[in-house]
Amino acid sequence: MIDYQPLYNALVDAKAEAWAEILPQQLERGFDPTKHGNLAEWQALVDSVPELPTAQRLLDADTVQIGSVDEYCGGEFIRSGRLKSPLHSQLKALHPWRKGPYNLFGIHIDTEWRSDWKWNRLKNHIAPLEHRLVLDVGCGNGYHCWRMLGAGAKTVIGIDPMMLNVMQFQLVRKLYGEAPVYVLPMGIEDMPYGLKAFDTAFSMGVLYHRRSPIDHLMELRDCLKPGGELVLETLVIDGGLGQVLLPEDRYARMRNVWFLPSCDTLIGWLKRCGFKNIRLVDVTVTSIEEQRTTEWMTFHSLKDFLDAENPQLTCEGLPAPKRAIVIANAA
Ligand SMILES: C[S@@+](CC[C@H](N)C(=O)[O-])C[C@H]1O[C@@H](n2cnc3c(N)ncnc32)[C@H](O)[C@@H]1O
Repeated sequence: MIDYQPLYNALVDAKAEAWAEILPQQLERGFDPTKHGNLAEWQALVDSVPELPTAQRLLDADTVQIGSVDEYCGGEFIRSGRLKSPLHSQLKALHPWRKGPYNLFGIHIDTEWRSDWKWNRLKNHIAPLEHRLVLDVGCGNGYHCWRMLGAGAKTVIGIDPMMLNVMQFQLVRKLYGEAPVYVLPMGIEDMPYGLKAFDTAFSMGVLYHRRSPIDHLMELRDCLKPGGELVLETLVIDGGLGQVLLPEDRYARMRNVWFLPSCDTLIGWLKRCGFKNIRLVDVTVTSIEEQRTTEWMTFHSLKDFLDAENPQLTCEGLPAPKRAIVIANAA
């Protein structure tokens, strides 16, 4: 069971009392087992994982590592010689693991995404995270939250409405032990308006899922202190100012993809929303090495969503995924 009191205290310290006041009720609603068919089962699974004190906690490497195989095996060697432990089955029960990689007591979770590649693309461009209160909007299972903590952040708050992500985080955090990092079951639209409390806010892989990208940028600006830093990562298209793709239907098989701007259009949106000091720091085409099917995410992945004849197009004939990272400051 996570103790949220330090989080409430951190919010009060940051003058975000408005959120600290309503958060207990939001968490109660978010973790209400009647809300999601699998939640009670996932909660029981996390509860059944033992607390395993370990001194081995590595957050500033590509693989988030907690514990080592020598500290815990708790299981038996199977015929193939591979180690299977109850922890292995408990982790597998939370399939699919999309964001990582992790190594948990010797179990390597090779996730669908090499999320470390995204982190490596941005880490040298952001303001140092030391002593910062950080928000990670749409944080998935919290892989980047751990990396932010590893980079020195004072407190990291991830939010994500998908309960499987939240429960994966809870399992990892139980293995890690107490830490000022939280993943809360909610969307950005659930945060009180006008907080202006965070030193840095990340929004990575979220903007194109929002029906109103301008509202999303406004909400992010509103979470940040004046001068606070936004780290925005999203899908973009080639093209000039004013160009934007609104897929007619699915994009790379995803139903919930709305606006893919050109980089210039994205920068224009940020200006209109009152951001300053806007810098485009990276544009990268997503490769089938970065996003792929693995033992820990056995469903279809990027390779299956691209045109088999022309990998520069999605299977719908649209430009294949290309992502930009833009950094800006709230005025
Ligand atoms: C493509 S993933 C990106 C995960 C991670 N930020 C990364 O860059 O690897 C998008 C995430 O945004 C979450 N999400 C969707 N709608 C959201 C909302 N309204 N507020 C916050 N997160 C949202 C999804 O559940 C999903 O985990």
